[in-house]
Amino acid sequence: MERIAITRQIKIFDTTLRDGEQAPGCSMNTPEKLEVAKQLERLGVDIIEAGFPASSPGDLESVKNIAGIIQNSAVAGLCRSLEKDIDAGWQALSKAVSPRIHIFLATSPIHMQYKLKMTPEQVLEQAVSAVTYAKKYCSDVEFSAEDAFRSDPEFVCRVFAAVIAAGATTVNAPDTVGYAMPEEFGAFIRYLKEHTSGIEKAALSTHVHNDLGLSVASSLAAIAAGADQIECTINGIGERAGNASLEEIVMALRVRKDYWNADTRIDTTQIYPASRLVTQVTGVKVQPNKAIVGENAFAHEAGIHQHGVLANRETYEIMTPESIGLQKNQMVLGKHSGKHALEDRLKQLGITAAAHDIERIFTEFKLLADKKKTVHDRDIEALARGITVSVPETWTLIHWAIDSSSALGATGTIQLRYKDGSLYKDVALAAGPIDAVFTVIDKIIGKDIELESFEIGAITEGEDALGETSVKIKHGERIWHGHGISVDIVESAIKAYISAINAMEWDISYNPHRAEGALTEGAAPSEL
Ligand code: KIV
Ligand code: ZN
Repeated sequence: MERIAITRQIKIFDTTLRDGEQAPGCSMNTPEKLEVAKQLERLGVDIIEAGFPASSPGDLESVKNIAGIIQNSAVAGLCRSLEKDIDAGWQALSKAVSPRIHIFLATSPIHMQYKLKMTPEQVLEQAVSAVTYAKKYCSDVEFSAEDAFRSDPEFVCRVFAAVIAAGATTVNAPDTVGYAMPEEFGAFIRYLKEHTSGIEKAALSTHVHNDLGLSVASSLAAIAAGADQIECTINGIGERAGNASLEEIVMALRVRKDYWNADTRIDTTQIYPASRLVTQVTGVKVQPNKAIVGENAFAHEAGIHQHGVLANRETYEIMTPESIGLQKNQMVLGKHSGKHALEDRLKQLGITAAAHDIERIFTEFKLLADKKKTVHDRDIEALARGITVSVPETWTLIHWAIDSSSALGATGTIQLRYKDGSLYKDVALAAGPIDAVFTVIDKIIGKDIELESFEIGAITEGEDALGETSVKIKHGERIWHGHGISVDIVESAIKAYISAINAMEWDISYNPHRAEGALTEGAAPSEL
């Protein structure tokens, strides 16, 4: 009799909006997080970890907003093993279609002794009481043994057995510091699977950091050893060297389905739009040679490779660019195109926009089509993302002018409109044109701002390419990111600077006490 192998379904738990967002320079504001969450839902992730609700009122609010709109993925919120965290978590998650409370507590000797100042027995007791408390609110509770890989495996099994008995439906064994070799990590997961009593009642998960560049390999080794869920992020963003990259794990399973006999429910054609969106909202670019989503992942430079690919693309391509949603640049629309054509194109690019945003995108598109001969998908995408993820404008750019010369430096003039309608105009002198306009803007808004990073480039090739600028600004201890595009490269820089200022103004008014990275996994000992 022929045996039919049943494909195992691996759950994808995406933590771009929590572990990813915790990474320095990766913070996102609420509209950006909502946009990313919608894209993760389109991608088909099983669980979206939307944030850490107790970390700040702003985080609680954005988890709540995400929980309110997501229909087809579970929404999780991270909580320390504290009742006040679990209360905040439930406050944020209660309206979700499928809420999940995610609780963590460290189990390794080094974390227990130096960070928690607790004995193993106290940790065990606190883990059980946190899960028991969370179960009063929610049937879906995940427990993570932070730094599990550096813990005594027998102790992790005891903790897992106890939290499963208390009702945990998923138990997660992270390699929090990315220390394991993949084979070793596989053996560790197998040990947990074989020695945890009651494990058949819960899903076994992993969460691997990339400190030695092994997070994807270790996650795959965990799947081979029987893990049911993988925690990962888009573009691999996350604490320090990041987390395991979603796109690499998913494509490894999909491309080598013959080997794994395991798959996910991910719609891989949504991978590239997801990667672009996360790059755009965080301002953190992926390295060009990054697997799957890097600029060069499907580029063939050497003549011999080009020849091979032209004869048969499988000579050098093990997956198609289309399979991850990468379309060849197309000249899709021109200045005579109408709103319906634009709406259709936006849909194909995986961008959903409200009616009032479509109006704004269309107006900008017409302006662009007037200035630019060819309008590519990447131009439309950048234009639309700039509008759909923007925060309300505290300051709006009205006019700018620059007078620049080789010997005398530059004079910048800027006119801005404040949200109450009043107009402000000023002038400044500086060594260069960008410096001059940024100095005037600082004068007008009256805040002490430091420019942390500044990246300027073109979206597409050619003389009439759209200019794209990313900036990071610092005010006090906090950092905000801004993004600007324009056919004029200087204007793209001004727009990026103003969009960072608007993100700052909005965040400060919404979320005044949050310090950048204030509450991370290694929370203050007294709190735990
Ligand atoms: O790295 C880690 O251990 C974590 C846990 C909170 C899951 O992020
Ligand atoms: Zn982590």
